[in-house]
Parts: sequence; structure tokens; C-alpha cells
Amino acid sequence: MPDSRPVHGGLDVVELKALGLRPDEVVDFSASINPLGVSPRVADAIRRVDLSAYPDPECTALRNTLSAHLGVPPDRTLVGNGSTELIHLIASARLRRGGPAAVFAPTFGEYEAACRLHLVEPLPIRAAPGREFRWDIAEVTHLLAELQPKLVFICNPNNPTGTYLERNEVEACARAVGDSGLLVLDEAYASFVDERWDPAPLLEVGNVALVRSMTKQHGLPGLRLGYMVAPARMVREVRRFQYTWSVNAVAQAAGVAALDDPDHVEKGRLVVRAAREYLVREVRGLGLACTPPSANFLLVEVGNATALRLELLRRHRVCVRDCTSFGMPGHIRIGVRGMQDSRRLIDALTDVLGRSLTSVH
Ligand SMILES: Cc1ncc(COP(=O)(O)O)c(C=O)c1O
Repeated sequence: MPDSRPVHGGLDVVELKALGLRPDEVVDFSASINPLGVSPRVADAIRRVDLSAYPDPECTALRNTLSAHLGVPPDRTLVGNGSTELIHLIASARLRRGGPAAVFAPTFGEYEAACRLHLVEPLPIRAAPGREFRWDIAEVTHLLAELQPKLVFICNPNNPTGTYLERNEVEACARAVGDSGLLVLDEAYASFVDERWDPAPLLEVGNVALVRSMTKQHGLPGLRLGYMVAPARMVREVRRFQYTWSVNAVAQAAGVAALDDPDHVEKGRLVVRAAREYLVREVRGLGLACTPPSANFLLVEVGNATALRLELLRRHRVCVRDCTSFGMPGHIRIGVRGMQDSRRLIDALTDVLGRSLTSVH
């Protein structure tokens, strides 16, 4: 059976080794993580975890903390080993007897992968580049109402396009999906959005589940942590597919400490906002088209993304995300980092584009 796991950002240690590079000398713009890294409060909390005891299989402390922060009862929350685990658990729960399913595309590869593991080929609802990758919601709701999918994934803001759907657009999609379907709203990057709307009222519709990653906003991708908020019966349905202890004790402690340190997330958002403005201006100044960003990454049209990425890595030790796996071989995605790193990226781009206009374009 071929290995059909999706491609992701992040450094590839095998590739770096082949290029004679060490991970610690490469600046990684290919993943989109809080540029401030791990909060000192989280670092302190994880040092105090007793590794000789089993983790709480119910994640009680973390779910209670989530409940207090979100204003929902703990039985409407489920914690996962990264939001990726939750995406797969949801697909297991909803697609075990088959589809149809739909995915707002181009987007994060795990939705499609999770559907395919259940032998369901999801319908890609592709946004057109001409409309700055915004979907035509009237058209989409019509399609959803016809398809009556059991499962629909929307990433908001969307990776990699940065499209941020408004509340009424998501509500219209939820209505079109109907009572027999489930709309998953993945808010992995929502904490980096400047004017964010609160999706909590959507949960009352009854067919919406919210999935949030804690790895981006709290700078913890290596730890794996995410959560889902949904009606209690849906949480019970999904939870049946989760194996005991999937969320380790270190991640649980980190989650509690992270939620109790909202300033860290807010400071990260402000750093991102400043560097994002700079990057957009400079990238456009280099003559490249950049889709209006809403979160902590930029989608930039470069011509040949694979060639440009490799040149940036080889010559300047900066890594960007080649969007070929999203079906967009002409685009790169840049995860926003602090100003110093951002300047380094712009210098690198200026050099590589100036040097190899013929081979890159
Ligand atoms: C949209 C989206 N959702 C979920 C994830 C997975 O996050 P986690 O680290 O919580 O598994 C990613 C990671 O890239 C993502 O881009």
C-alpha cells in the first residue's frame, strides 16, 4: 500500500542532512507557530510533572480549565494529542459507514487523509484564486444542500490561503449541511486573527464541532495538544474512538498553564501583526502577488515554488512552505516570525529572485 500521508510544513531532517545543514541553523518559516515560542509559565509547569505516574485519561484538570475559559460545561470538550488526532477521531465516528464528505479546499491535508482512511473520497469545494480564494457561499450552500454530506471540514482562517469566513457565511453552511451532517470548524490559527468573531453560538445549531489546536498559539507543536468543543452527545460519539492515555501528562499540564497565560498568546499576535505588515509590504515590493492575510501566514505567488524553496534553503538557510501539495505549485506559504527573522527572509528572497529570475520564474 503506498504511503499516502499528507505533506506538512516543518523542517525535514533527512532533507537537511542531504544538504549538509543542521536544523538549528535553519530559520523555519514553513510552519506557522507563535513566534514567541513556549511561555515561561508552560516551561515551568511541565518541569513539575510526575513522569512515573499514568496521565489522567479524562484530562480532567485541562477540561475543567477549558470549561472555565470557554464558558461551556466540561462534557462538551474533548482533548486530543494535537488537533490532528481529533480530526481523525471525528472522521472515524462519522464516516465509519461511508460518506459523502466534503472539504473546503485548498486546505490542510489531514481532512482529506482522514476521510480516505475510511475509504471516503471527500468532495473538494475549491476556492478560485481570482476571488482571492474566497468561496462563493451561495453556490457552496446549494452544493452542500444537494450533497447532504455526513462530514464537512472548514478551516477558518484557511491554511494556506488565509481566507477568513464571516459568521453568517459559516452559519449558512451549517444550515445547508442539515441535521444528519456534521460541520467541523477548524480554528487552528484563529488566535492570530485581529478581528475574530466568537463561534460559540454556532455550537447551539447542533451540527457544528469546533476544533482548536493548542500547538500554534502556544508554540507547542512538538508536544501535541488540541481540543474539540461540541454538543455533549457528539463528544461522547467521538470519544469512543480515542484510545486511553492518548494525551500525555506533560501535554495536559502544559495545556492548563497555557490557558492560564493568555498574555503570551496576545503578545504573539501583536508580534505577528507587526511582522506581517512588514512582510506583505516587502514581498509586494519585490513584485510578488500576496493574498491578503488574516492570520500568521502569507500566501505568495512566486512562479516555481519548489525551485524557490530549495534555493532559499540552500543559499540562505531559510525554509518556506512549497504549496505544491495543496495543488498550488506556483505559491509558497510564509509563516510569520519576529522582525529580525522576517528581515532575513526578505534579504534572502531579494537575493534569490534577483539571481535566478530565469530559473525560478
Ligand atoms: C489547519 C490546521 N489544523 C490542524 C493542524 C494540526 O495541528 P496540531 O498540531 O494541533 O495537530 C494544522 C497543522 O498544521 C493545521 O494547519
